[in-house]
Amino acid sequence: MSAAQCNIVPGDDPSAVPRAVDAVLDGGIVGLPTETVYGLAGDALSDGAVRRIYEVKGRPPTHPLILHLGRADWLASWTDGLGGAADLLAHECWPGPLTLLLPAARHVPRAPLGGRRTAAFRVPAHDLARTVIDAVGRPVAAPSANRFGRVSPTTAAHVCDDLGSDVDLVVDGGPSVLGIESTIVDLSESEIQILRHGAIPVEDLETILGRTIPDARGASRAPGMLHSHYAPACEVLLAVDETEAASIASSCDRQGRSWRRLSAPDSLPLYAATLFDELRRCDRFGVDAVIAVLPPARGLGRAIRDRLEKAAAPR
Ligand code: TXA
Ligand code: MG
Repeated sequence: MSAAQCNIVPGDDPSAVPRAVDAVLDGGIVGLPTETVYGLAGDALSDGAVRRIYEVKGRPPTHPLILHLGRADWLASWTDGLGGAADLLAHECWPGPLTLLLPAARHVPRAPLGGRRTAAFRVPAHDLARTVIDAVGRPVAAPSANRFGRVSPTTAAHVCDDLGSDVDLVVDGGPSVLGIESTIVDLSESEIQILRHGAIPVEDLETILGRTIPDARGASRAPGMLHSHYAPACEVLLAVDETEAASIASSCDRQGRSWRRLSAPDSLPLYAATLFDELRRCDRFGVDAVIAVLPPARGLGRAIRDRLEKAAAPR
């Protein structure tokens, strides 16, 4: 795909928001910046737009899309299952990198839900995204704007590299500040569960709810929670510490394989913000392998480990 043919507009250009809104209202698909990663945005109520999102991503039609809302008070119109925990989490965390999985209201079309009766909702905390969604006035479906199974995009250039002219417009809002996808909490089953670790650490959600939240085990876990995901073309080799990373590097040298170390800052927010660009970089440098030291399994470290383990999984 040629990035040169990508239709990109700077986010501070006065035409950016109206063009993005018009494209979505016309059933088009737009690369839209959010605080987590760039989304591939389209009208969730338009069958044509939803079909194009699945086609362009190369995503199986059974993998549902997150419905992005302009404001938290839209939620009541789109779900049947608003309860105490959902209200509390939405109130405390929105706009922000938290996605709530809830029973969908009857009038929500099934196509963006991958045929399911639950829907995942999020109000993004990015001014451009929220302004566009607010002006569209209805839920905007937006999976990460990468090809299925590949590394999520954190800049407009990443979206253009992956999708080029397949997307109608890309709004350049600068690098995504958090750099890792939203945390998904499943509130659709009897027990609250974490469906995907993400940019809000589970510990923060546990403090808000005053209870522990286990990882998901139920039926909702299936779609999109594939073992291999977020994968660059080069091989991803994981180390528990610097000593193991050095020994993996020596063994690559002995095998005549080129490698690069993934920069793994001590600051977990910085590690998360740079992770996907670092994974993409190893493909740009054309190395055989990237060696990553795993962060501790707490706070944001859980989401970072999850992405690295999926990137390293057999394909
Ligand atoms: O931060 C984010 O969440 C980004 C930005 C663009 O908002 N979006 C994102 O979307 O990561 P996506 O489609 O790449 O990942 C959403 C995940 C998928 O694994 C999907 O299967 C799951 O959420 N999901 C969405 N709706 C669901 C549903 N109704 N039931 C179960 N899983 C659902
Ligand atoms: Mg994704």
